[in-house]
Amino acid sequence: MRMSVIGTGYLGATHAACMAELGHEVVGVDVDESKIAALQSGDVPFFEPGLPEITRRNLDNGRLRFSTDYADAAEAKVHFLGVGTPQQRGAYAADLTYVRAVIKDLVPRLTGDNLILGKSTVPVGTAAELQVLADELAPEGTTVEIAWNPEFLRESHGVEDTIHPDRIVLGLREGSTQEPLVREIYASQLAEDIPFLVTDLQTAELVKVSANAFLATKISFINAVAEVCEAAGADVVKLAEAIGYDDRIGRKFLGAGLGFGGGCLPKDIRAFMARAGELGADQALSFLREVDGVNMRQRDRVVQLAKQLSGGSLLGKRVTVLGAAFKANSDDVRDSPALNVAGQLSLAGAAVSVYDPEAMANAAKVFPTLTYAQSLRESLEGAELVLLATEWQEFRDMDPQEIAQVVDQRIIIDARNVLDPAAWAAEGWQIKALGRSL
Ligand code: UDX
Repeated sequence: MRMSVIGTGYLGATHAACMAELGHEVVGVDVDESKIAALQSGDVPFFEPGLPEITRRNLDNGRLRFSTDYADAAEAKVHFLGVGTPQQRGAYAADLTYVRAVIKDLVPRLTGDNLILGKSTVPVGTAAELQVLADELAPEGTTVEIAWNPEFLRESHGVEDTIHPDRIVLGLREGSTQEPLVREIYASQLAEDIPFLVTDLQTAELVKVSANAFLATKISFINAVAEVCEAAGADVVKLAEAIGYDDRIGRKFLGAGLGFGGGCLPKDIRAFMARAGELGADQALSFLREVDGVNMRQRDRVVQLAKQLSGGSLLGKRVTVLGAAFKANSDDVRDSPALNVAGQLSLAGAAVSVYDPEAMANAAKVFPTLTYAQSLRESLEGAELVLLATEWQEFRDMDPQEIAQVVDQRIIIDARNVLDPAAWAAEGWQIKALGRSL
């Protein structure tokens, strides 16, 4: 089937390439010329494992192309909308400028009968609002239906999550007859028995934010318990393992440490609270304020711990921060806890050396004043304190004996709870972590 994907960021570029991989004829459209030029020549402008390979394969076989021209999108009758919905400046609510701009730019160019499938995370009620806008802008004789088909992909697992999702959710307006068309788009997934849920528009919009709010709550829950563990002399890692065996709870997303960041979870819980407030249901989500608060507090706690381990002052201390990305296997530094901590340490007077396997260029744009080392070893040279802030495999695999030869002082904070404390202690390291009394 012929289709367009508007917006070629982490979500849209992945969706475009994966739809082509599934056999569709896809054009990815974005207003960012440099991004489109890179994608068209097979260079994915961000780090997403597996995506460059399927992008090149489908550019070569002719099923995938990229364009800055909405006229190219208008050749299709099915359009996926995958532009960003960042947090508004100075407010909790989502900024819908880009979403509305797509409707304004695309709809006047359309002919015949069209379906726009929204993938972006939006406040409940957005699809209905966009439908009104599309109806106003559609040329005579053209029909445009807005449906919502939220995306659940995780960065760093984007390809796998798009080709084999846990579920497909489709929100349709009352009286819609588009379900068979959407079933055709996802025919190969439906043949794998992936659950397909058809709902009204509002439910589909809310499914996405609820899923992210739940994940955020789960992480903040374990981080709150970690604070109690510390106060009581207990071990949050063992505790998470023990409660995780209960399959009503589950071990996933009970990783205590620096907490969540990235382009989704933080802004989604805030936009969810803002929208609930607009709907008069603000009390219902007031607990998310606490979820946000617990999460942000972890960053301060790590800074305090670093200060304490530096004898009360960070002034002039050589601190190595391992990680800049908001999570492993990503180059995304949006609201990255690691980078936030690196910045705070630097502002407190420490000489901070940062190393990340993929996110250095993005980090340097946000925090140009930090020192970025070219390798893990270089970053550790002469360190008086090491802080593991992003859970990259390269950091998990560090050999405490080898590293001890490079640093000045054997003091490490494992802010992601991924190291084996006994192995590090055996090599003479003082190792500290959140939620554990080591
Ligand atoms: C998230 C959702 O998982 C995904 O379904 C949605 O489509 C977009 O938002 P993503 O932002 O890629 O995906 O990151 P995710 O893997 O969920 O991790 C979010 C953050 O939580 C990261 O900073 C990660 O380090 C942190 N995290 C995760 C923890 O602190 N502890 C955990 O146990 C798990």
